[in-house]
Amino acid sequence: DKGNYKHFMAKEIHEQPEVLGHTLSQYVDYTQNKANVAGSEQLRFKDLSRLVITACGTAYLAGLVGKYWFEKYARLPVDIDIASEFRYRETPLSSADSALFISQSGETADTLASLRYCKSQGASIGAIVNVPESTIARESDVIFPTIAGPEVGVASTKAFTCQLAVLAALALQAGRERGTLTFEEEAKLVSELTELPTLTLKALSNEVEIQKLSQQLSKATNALYLGRNTSFPIALEGALKLKELSYIHAEGYAAGELKHGPIALIDENIPVVVIAPFDAIYEKTVSNMQEVAARGGRIILITDERGAAQCGTSPETVVVLPEMSDIVAPIVYALPVQMIAYHTAVFMGTDVDQPRNLAKSVTVE
Ligand code: M6R
Repeated sequence: DKGNYKHFMAKEIHEQPEVLGHTLSQYVDYTQNKANVAGSEQLRFKDLSRLVITACGTAYLAGLVGKYWFEKYARLPVDIDIASEFRYRETPLSSADSALFISQSGETADTLASLRYCKSQGASIGAIVNVPESTIARESDVIFPTIAGPEVGVASTKAFTCQLAVLAALALQAGRERGTLTFEEEAKLVSELTELPTLTLKALSNEVEIQKLSQQLSKATNALYLGRNTSFPIALEGALKLKELSYIHAEGYAAGELKHGPIALIDENIPVVVIAPFDAIYEKTVSNMQEVAARGGRIILITDERGAAQCGTSPETVVVLPEMSDIVAPIVYALPVQMIAYHTAVFMGTDVDQPRNLAKSVTVE
């Protein structure tokens, strides 16, 4: 049931404040401000020398954000790969390793094959899934369900942000178990996570403006998305969403890679979506943005008030989100990126919930 929405995707985007609240309440202890992930001991974070993460598509991009968090908060090295590469590259693994799989459906063929490979090598297996009765869930030693509810739109939206919420809690849990976070640091990070329902609700209030910029975007044939640090996977996600829904060719890049090739694409016809919360590396992203502006690129900047005040150029459009802590930023910044893809597709008249050539669950290799 789509309720009052035109598409399942719109409904699922708007459900995020609520389902993030549900998911978080499963993984954090609000009374003590601690991560509280049942079953995490199966992954043996304390003695682990690396964590292997494998997934496809948007779920892979959630894992990529997870890598930044596990490395930063738990000092745990992460090897992440897309499942269709991982399964064929003969990674050495042993019973000392733990592997984490991320899948909304729990049925993705390449992700399942990667899981079976890791299992055959003796690794401990964990899975973040949205369908707890799925094959991937059944074959894992421990599952961390996202409480997103059924996701009908082919484009993954609420499952993605809930995967991020689970990964954030897991990274903090790992940080505590490995002794890399003090109680005070963990409590602060957990209380920042509890802001997610409020922050994502505020992010949704930019929809009218996003609709306007999407009308412009729908005239483009190519688009670029740029970001650094945890905004880099969100740039990749923005580009993936735009191409799968609107069929506009889009690429996401780490902003620092611009001068290593993609800057050659910049002219006055290409919209460049820059994802840049005002954080410790904001200045670095701004200098990349100025390189784009100097070549006539049309900038759509997604930032906060401080970022908007200090961007030094005049972007065509600025989407202003509330100021927020680093840990919640990739989750909240995912929403404008989803809304841009959604509204652009609506302007293009494509089949938003069932884009051409795509299936909700990719059970073939
Ligand atoms: O069910 P899964 O999470 O394993 O699916 C993985 C990808 O097929 C999926 O995320 C795909 O990239 C989406 N259509 C993206 O919106």
